Amino acid sequence: MTTVLRKPAEFRQVCDDARANSHRVGLVPTMGALHEGHFSLIDEAKKRADFIAATLFVNPLQFAPDEDLDRYPRTLESDLAGCSQRGVDVVFAPEPDSMYPAHFQTQVSVSELTKPLEGGFRPAHFDGVTTVVAKLFNLTGPCTAMFGRKDYQQWKILSRLAHDLDMPIEVVGCPIVRESDGLALSSRNRYLSASERERALSIVSGLRRAHDAWAEGDRSVETLRTLAAERVRAEFDAVDYVSVVDPDTLLTPAESANRLLIAVAAHLGTTRLIDNVVLGEDPRP
Ligand code: PAJ
Repeated sequence: MTTVLRKPAEFRQVCDDARANSHRVGLVPTMGALHEGHFSLIDEAKKRADFIAATLFVNPLQFAPDEDLDRYPRTLESDLAGCSQRGVDVVFAPEPDSMYPAHFQTQVSVSELTKPLEGGFRPAHFDGVTTVVAKLFNLTGPCTAMFGRKDYQQWKILSRLAHDLDMPIEVVGCPIVRESDGLALSSRNRYLSASERERALSIVSGLRRAHDAWAEGDRSVETLRTLAAERVRAEFDAVDYVSVVDPDTLLTPAESANRLLIAVAAHLGTTRLIDNVVLGEDPRP
């Protein structure tokens, strides 16, 4: 049976008790509206730990005023059923007031990795993410924490956070889960109309085009970028970025890099989608 806890102190106690009983805690932080991408993190956590905690919290701090906080999907009942079916031991689903009570005024911020890519378009977003995840890490205590490489930059930032602040957290980045046609699973995909859903495939078709060119030996950053960007631009209403960067620093890659991250963020109507692939490392998406 999955235990559902609302109060931070109760969640901390349950994690402490699990460790006291010689369990390794596996943590899967989410904002709910769970799909197979999230469940893949739970499955991976179960390989690495034997007491699994999932958190469901739509974190207001990481949404800008003009973003989709109010309409973000909230599907608690089916999320709990999914967690229970996939073998989660405890779900932590706090109310915003218990995470951010009156007089809350502390922010955790990672300075450099937050600047490129998403940082140019969602300026306060990562400070909201690092602040809530620092709280979740502190409540959970020593654990293995699973994140998806769908949010590649987020995973890199959270690895940095745990390392820089000497947190006893092993941060693991898990592969992107896709629909059979290649679209990366996202809680936001449900916003797409049927025709937008079709057009959304141009992201993965752009990433595949770059992946194929890389496989054929093309190493020109500008060519690889253009191959992907052409596809995305043809179908999306607005493109925030199609960037080719160093997968570790997220900055301009070295001339003869043997791995390149190609990352995309673009809008279809009011829906913003992101996706990426690491050339020289990931399989063809
Ligand atoms: P959320 O968007 O719910 O995602 C929770 C986790 O699921 C993240 O680590 C994300 O990268 C992963 N994920 C989402 N779609 C995926 C996919 N298709 N394949 C693999 N993993 C996928 O990311 C957040 O929530 C929040 O920012 C959070 C870290 C919980 C802090 O509030």
